[in-house]
Amino acid sequence: MSRPKIALIGGGQVGGNIALLSAQKELGDIIILDIPEAENFMKGKALDISQLLPHDGYDSKLSGTSNFEDIKDSDVVVITAGFPRQPGMNREDLLQKNLDIMTNVANQVKKYAPKAFVIVVSNPLDAMVYAFHKISGFPKNKVVGMAGALDSARFRAFIAEATNLSSQDVNCMVLGGHGDTMVPVSRLATVGGVPLSSLLSENEIIAIENRTRVGGGEIVKLFGKGSAFYAPAQSAVEMIESFVRDKKRVIPCASLCEGEFDIDGYFIGVPTVIGSGGVEKILTFDLDKDEKAALSNTLVEVKKTVSETGLQ
Ligand code: LAC
Repeated sequence: MSRPKIALIGGGQVGGNIALLSAQKELGDIIILDIPEAENFMKGKALDISQLLPHDGYDSKLSGTSNFEDIKDSDVVVITAGFPRQPGMNREDLLQKNLDIMTNVANQVKKYAPKAFVIVVSNPLDAMVYAFHKISGFPKNKVVGMAGALDSARFRAFIAEATNLSSQDVNCMVLGGHGDTMVPVSRLATVGGVPLSSLLSENEIIAIENRTRVGGGEIVKLFGKGSAFYAPAQSAVEMIESFVRDKKRVIPCASLCEGEFDIDGYFIGVPTVIGSGGVEKILTFDLDKDEKAALSNTLVEVKKTVSETGLQ
């Protein structure tokens, strides 16, 4: 049996780190694809990563290319291609530029890897994953957006910091769009099974929610150039791993809702089971009044960015 074939469309900071982290987990053989001007750089990244693998004894094979034919029959495709956010820019400002790139990528993936499980990472995420799905015509279980995994990881990290407890024991989720209206569900957050509300004051929890919502922007400001890449890469790798190892992890992802949480026809962050069938299930539960209102509010934003694609 051969190893899963993982194609990374876009070999920038996020794509490059996905290659590294996936190789270190031996998730499959990895192809890093970028524009022709960057082909040698991609070949260099692939070679460099393959030369660190002997330290740990991993056997993933890596290659770099600018030719879409090389992604033929990939099992997983992760799309990070696109311009990153710059200071002062919100994710929506990126829309038009990145939509052109996504249109080309979707057509190429459809042609060469029609059976792949596709994870979209490019921003604005909610619109890009919608665009990929619409343009490619892929079934809904084969298309998902990476956002909630990252937003929830930030939420977890901030809770760990505020409680001075291990992030490993923090369990929580962020629902909704990948923008400032995202919904950290504090009511259900726990640390080692203990409700967050018994560990922190209401004001402390609100401060963490607020910081989570602008977590990406905080890093954009600090970098002064481009956006976060280590945590986004690891979040995508978690999703790849759940698929190739059929782990059936429950990860907040931008999945196509068709009635779940009363949302119909939009990709939005919801608790998603990822296994060998791709998006196997969306888990639903009762939201309280405030959470319902917050989810409706974030849906308005998602609808707005999706309508700007002109693809409806
Ligand atoms: C972030 C960007 C990648 O949230 O959307 O950091």
